Amino acid sequence: MKLTYLCMYGRGYVTFDLVWLGVFILFSLQTTISPVIGVYTLTVHKYSSNMKAGLLGMLHSPPCATSVPLRHVRARVTCSSSSGHISFIKDVAATQPPENLQHLLKMLQTRGETIVSPGSRHGLIPLAIPLSENMSGSMTALLRWPTAPPGMEMPVVEVRKHGVWLLANNVDQYIHRILVEEDADESHGSDGELFHASSEAGKKLYTRGDFAESKISNLDGYLLKKVGLFPDLLERKVMRHFEEGDQVSALVTGEFYTKKDLFPGFGRPFVFNAEILLKVGRASEAKDSARVALKSPWWTLGCTYQDVASIAQWEDEQIEYIKEKVSEEGRQEDLKKGKALAQVALDEAAFMLDLASIDGTWGDYLDRIAECYKEAGLGEIANFILYRD
Ligand SMILES: *[C@@H]1O[C@H](CO)[C@@H](O)[C@H](O)[C@H]1NC(C)=O
Repeated sequence: MKLTYLCMYGRGYVTFDLVWLGVFILFSLQTTISPVIGVYTLTVHKYSSNMKAGLLGMLHSPPCATSVPLRHVRARVTCSSSSGHISFIKDVAATQPPENLQHLLKMLQTRGETIVSPGSRHGLIPLAIPLSENMSGSMTALLRWPTAPPGMEMPVVEVRKHGVWLLANNVDQYIHRILVEEDADESHGSDGELFHASSEAGKKLYTRGDFAESKISNLDGYLLKKVGLFPDLLERKVMRHFEEGDQVSALVTGEFYTKKDLFPGFGRPFVFNAEILLKVGRASEAKDSARVALKSPWWTLGCTYQDVASIAQWEDEQIEYIKEKVSEEGRQEDLKKGKALAQVALDEAAFMLDLASIDGTWGDYLDRIAECYKEAGLGEIANFILYRD
């Protein structure tokens, strides 16, 4: 027997069968995934070689930052490229810029990356605000969640074809991590140029030498303990436990990764947890975890929809389901059920982002996404979604 329930879960209504409803309730009890968050910093990967030319053509930098072979000219990088980003975040993204954003930009530049105009968003997930691009074409940017709770900080992420990869929950943690990594790497000839570039922000966040003094021999361990939780570090920690043959610690760490509020809104921890459960032969729990992951925005999975759907033992049902929800009939049905128009529109925008993430075809959905936000009363977000240089 298949009973279906409709539950409001963050970004929209989802159907569950009875067993799954139980999982959902348990999960909800310990998790508050905010439907909407703040602005994230992202790194954008070049997706494929055929997109490369197009992207390269579009990546503009402020004149002062364009062609500086940065690593060796720290002292001469005087022109500040941050003001464009700060006013963009205020005026276009309609939110509060992170306090230390200009210092982070300086550090990225010092690290050899090219500053990217915040409006160079063609082909990218429309919630991204580009900051910089590294030599292999990976872009760091900010991600603007459409309906961020007030006071929520903007996390740092890396933009990929199918969405984003969370680099840090906020700009300060990202700066702090870079400083510790530079300090730990001193034996390899670093003279603290990133620390200098970070200016007063760096002095507030980190005292050089603290890593060595901490007697924590393992850099990852220091970062997790003293700086913050980072998805890549937690995943590496789990893999290390596996290498050491410590399956229990691996699974405990994997579960910890999915704990509420560590990475709000992100489906990635559940994907990873599903992968490790599968690795130890617990396919049914892996399936449940993958299904939880797919209740999050699909652009937060850190991989493709298909990768997760296969663990979830779903084929294209979820895609079909979402396509139905965003059809005129689906919309009328929701309205008939008494769902507020603004909520229907918000859900639809979120579903549309999910659909766009499947093939990374963001451009095909921009107009409809913006339309939904406008309908939901979020005119500023609609304009932000559509804005590009
Ligand atoms: C650019 O960033 C990506 C993602 O973080 C990384 O894998 C790559 O090694 C970086 N390339 C350079 C040249 O630093």
